[in-house]
Amino acid sequence: MPSYTALTTITGEDAAEALANALERMQPAPLEVELFDDAETPGGLRVVASFAKAPEAALLDVLAAAFGAAPFQVTEHAQRTFTALTTLPGEAAAKALADALEALEPAPYGVGAFEIEDESGLWEVGSYFLDPPDADMLAALASAHGARPFAISELPEIDWVAKVRRELSPVDAGRFFVYGSHDADRAAGLGPDRVALQIEATVAFGTGHHGTTLGCLRAFDRLFDAGFRPARVADIGCGTAVLAMAAAAVLPDALVIASDIDEVAVDVAEANVAINGLQGRIECLEAAGFAHPRLAEAAPYDLVFANILKGPLIELAPPMAAHLGRGGLCILSGLLVVQAEAVTAAYVALGHDLVSRDDIGEWSTLVLRRV
Ligand SMILES: C[S@@+](CC[C@H](N)C(=O)[O-])C[C@H]1O[C@@H](n2cnc3c(N)ncnc32)[C@H](O)[C@@H]1O
Repeated sequence: MPSYTALTTITGEDAAEALANALERMQPAPLEVELFDDAETPGGLRVVASFAKAPEAALLDVLAAAFGAAPFQVTEHAQRTFTALTTLPGEAAAKALADALEALEPAPYGVGAFEIEDESGLWEVGSYFLDPPDADMLAALASAHGARPFAISELPEIDWVAKVRRELSPVDAGRFFVYGSHDADRAAGLGPDRVALQIEATVAFGTGHHGTTLGCLRAFDRLFDAGFRPARVADIGCGTAVLAMAAAAVLPDALVIASDIDEVAVDVAEANVAINGLQGRIECLEAAGFAHPRLAEAAPYDLVFANILKGPLIELAPPMAAHLGRGGLCILSGLLVVQAEAVTAAYVALGHDLVSRDDIGEWSTLVLRRV
């Protein structure tokens, strides 16, 4: 099975890391993104992404241009790819095992250690090999580092287009119908009471498939049904701008601002706003939380969406209280069910009442009112 690498050079560590983060969120996701010093350019770094399937050249071009990197060179390797995956408790142990894997001969071409986001404290350590790895050696490493035995497998050939179509079927969230261009015919056949939003799976988060986005859309749909008509709306951590677009689509006179800490997400948000014919209806800007003069100037808000993680949501509680008008609502998501009480408590302590909480799978969505 062939594999692919996309290689570029870029100046500056921050820029290289930002580009690597954006690459990691591509669909299909790369197997691995690695940074190396570029010996030929002072301050230069090489960013190398490995893919199991040919990456989309147009998307790589956009990313290279957005981050000021050289155009990507994509190379096909006529090689099979094997993975070895295990889990173990604790960051230090996971990093030690990853280091030990890197030192294997012949070296794997990629090693990663990631915390599993279920509050179990477990880490996943995985590595990719171009030849079948030495199972006895891996078994010895796992046992020496207190990890479960490695699961070794050869990566299957995947038809990514079919997979994306299968997994990214349209999302129904009350009146909202979120779809990719491959389902445009279904969107065209919807009744007049439905609101269709076209969103492609790219590097920004928010196709409606995730429990957090779905939870926010459903909560907003329910409030809208109950007669809620906010005049000033902010979508903090907008990703694709799906939530801001849902609001702008049903609130023709509302002021809607969509912001994200990630400049690539802001570019994607602007593109989505245009695709959906909402130009001039949504202001997209780059900001951490509410830290932008325009976000301050447009306050107080009647509705703020914030679908970010538990930690940033708790940090956002004081500025949320300052920017929501009295009686205004915030729809919060990105938190696990087990984190819902802590996030609720942080907002209640600063003058918000809990209006509703909905759990979808392991994700919770909260609606709170500024008293
Ligand atoms: C889970 S995604 C949500 C995207 C979209 N709003 C949705 O509901 O699908 C979280 C987004 O928040 C952004 N983000 C994380 N922390 C942030 C912060 N402190 N301020 C602004 N944006 C933030 C991330 O870059 C990411 O695009």
